[in-house]
Amino acid sequence: MDMQKIEIISDSVERTFEIGSKIGEALLPGDIVCLVGPLGSGKTTLVKGIAAGAGSQKPNLVNSPSYVIINEYQGRFNIFHIDAYRINTEAEFESLGFEDILGPDSVVLIEWADKVASKLDGLDYVRIEMQHKGANSRAIKITGLKNMKNLSF
Ligand SMILES: Nc1ncnc2c1ncn2[C@@H]1O[C@H](COP(=O)(O)OP(=O)(O)OP(=O)(O)O)[C@@H](O)[C@H]1O
Ligand SMILES: [Mg+2]
Repeated sequence: MDMQKIEIISDSVERTFEIGSKIGEALLPGDIVCLVGPLGSGKTTLVKGIAAGAGSQKPNLVNSPSYVIINEYQGRFNIFHIDAYRINTEAEFESLGFEDILGPDSVVLIEWADKVASKLDGLDYVRIEMQHKGANSRAIKITGLKNMKNLSF
C-alpha cells in the first residue's frame, strides 16, 4: 500500500476545498482523519471539501462544531466531524462517545486532533497538518492516506 507523504500548497480557499474533496473521494469506510494546525489554517475549509468528496449533498452546512463539538453528515458513509478545540480532558473526549462512533461504516474527521492525541494512540489514521504560508497560502501535509492510486492533486 502506498503511504507516502504528500505536501501541497494551496493559494486559495477554493483550492483548499478542492484538495479536500479529492481526499474525500479517496476515503474508505472506517477511516479516521486527524487535522492539526493553528487557528485559521484552513482545517474546516478542508473538512467541507472532504465532506463534499465523500458524497455529502450539503457541504456548505459543514461548520466547525465548536459548541456542539460533534456534527454528523450523510455521504457515502456516516461522516462525523469533531472539533476538539474546546476539549480539555480525556474524560470529556470519552463522554462524546468517540469510541462508539468509530466503526467500519463511518468516517471520523477530527480538528485539533493533537489535543486528544493520547486517545488516538495505536489507531491507524490519516494525518493532515496545515500551516499558514501567507495571507491566502496554506501548506497541507498529508500522511497515511491509503487509497492514493488514482489521486492527483
Ligand atoms: N488557501 C486557503 N485555504 C483555506 N483558508 C484560507 C486560505 N487562504 C485564506 N484562508 C482563510 O483562512 C481562514 C481559514 O478558516 P478555517 O475555519 O478553515 O480554519 P480552521 O483551521 O478550521 O480554524 P479554527 O482553528 O478556528 O477552527 C478563512 O478565513 C479563510 O478565508
Ligand atoms: Mg475549524
